[in-house]
Amino acid sequence: MNQVSPLSIAQVTDTHLFASEHHKMLGMPTTQSFQTIIERLKQLRTELDLLLLTGDLSGDGTPESYENLQNLLNPLQIQTYWLPGNHDCAIAMDDILNMGMISRRKSFQRGGWNFILLNSSVPECVHGYLPGKTLDWLDSELKILGNNPTVVALHHPPFPVNSAWLDTSTLKNPQEFFAVLDRHPQVKLVLFGHIHQEFQHQRHTVDYLSTPSTCIQFQSKSPTFVIDQQLPGFRLFKLYPNGMWESTVERVPCSECFSKC
Ligand SMILES: [Fe+2]
Repeated sequence: MNQVSPLSIAQVTDTHLFASEHHKMLGMPTTQSFQTIIERLKQLRTELDLLLLTGDLSGDGTPESYENLQNLLNPLQIQTYWLPGNHDCAIAMDDILNMGMISRRKSFQRGGWNFILLNSSVPECVHGYLPGKTLDWLDSELKILGNNPTVVALHHPPFPVNSAWLDTSTLKNPQEFFAVLDRHPQVKLVLFGHIHQEFQHQRHTVDYLSTPSTCIQFQSKSPTFVIDQQLPGFRLFKLYPNGMWESTVERVPCSECFSKC
């Protein structure tokens, strides 16, 4: 039994916000769908210690889209960390998403856990890649931060997800990533987004989890691109100081998300 109170975090991903709050992506009003998630997070606010945003926060990479994100997150007043995805503009994010409760830090400690956030995006490309410099930094942070249980997050999945069209845009150098993780057994969880669906895989002692998007969902195990009619969602974690963890995915009703384009 876990006797110590855990750190509670929410992973929120692939919000795909735009410069215009009225813009729809494949018929989905992404601002409205994200607002439904925000409303649910407000209900959970007192029990949440931090938010982790795992990329594709913008759908158009504009500064305005990040300002919209900042304005939507601000009422929550929850410490928030983020990393970029393939649709993002990392430079604009660094400028805008570093104010108040939103931090651009990529390595931090909370509740007896270490967190390391990686940029796996490749300019102008959909797939992911971790350059040698990033892997060296990961290795050195894991050494510096020490033996506390650790979460590593990135946007792209380091595994195929049994979906041919999505599997062309996963992380291209997973073996190099795994080689670093294998040297640091304190890593317990690797979290990612990109695939707009729930997914879980275990490799050695590390669990790899993805989270549904806050907007459209991709049908799992589909060889081609198919929109799934499941609701927008996010993921909750309870992280215990002894390295144990629990996680659940929440889906949030959104009556206006599935109206006509
Ligand atoms: Fe993505």
